[in-house]
Amino acid sequence: MTAPPRLSRYLQLNLNVNGKNFELNVEPRMSLLDVLRINLGYTGAKKGCDMGSCGACTVLVDGKTRLSCLTLAASVTNSKIETVEGIENDPKGKILQESFIKHDALQCGFCTPGQVISALFLLNTRKSPTKNEIKRFMAGNVCRCGAYPKIIQAIEDASKVI
Ligand code: FES
Ligand code: FES
Repeated sequence: MTAPPRLSRYLQLNLNVNGKNFELNVEPRMSLLDVLRINLGYTGAKKGCDMGSCGACTVLVDGKTRLSCLTLAASVTNSKIETVEGIENDPKGKILQESFIKHDALQCGFCTPGQVISALFLLNTRKSPTKNEIKRFMAGNVCRCGAYPKIIQAIEDASKVI
């Protein structure tokens, strides 16, 4: 009797991250966050809650914010993924990063990559948002250090030159 064909536990995926194409084999259950951090070494997106509550893992998928801890890597094979490491080449991203530094908008920095990615999406989609609009939009990004006033100020100032 011939043995049944062995099923592979792994999926072959092609991911485009920060403009680079990657071919990799991953378990189907792996989140985009884990694949970015473990398989590809992009550790900018952080694992905070791992359950969609803190925003630390926020990345852009086809230009829109996405919680990478709740996204299966296998579901974004044909998408363009951007992490905080990739936005240095984006003029708006660079302005935002500089504004965060100028306003000292962080303490431990754990939430900062997610904050910057969410702010970039906001400024890509809304010209000159008010302080209240910024606060409302950024509500999904938790900062346990309480750096909110400076984060809001950094985004507001960046919006004036973007
Ligand atoms: S780690 Fe994804 S939302 Fe907290
Ligand atoms: S700067 Fe520490 S969690 Fe935001």
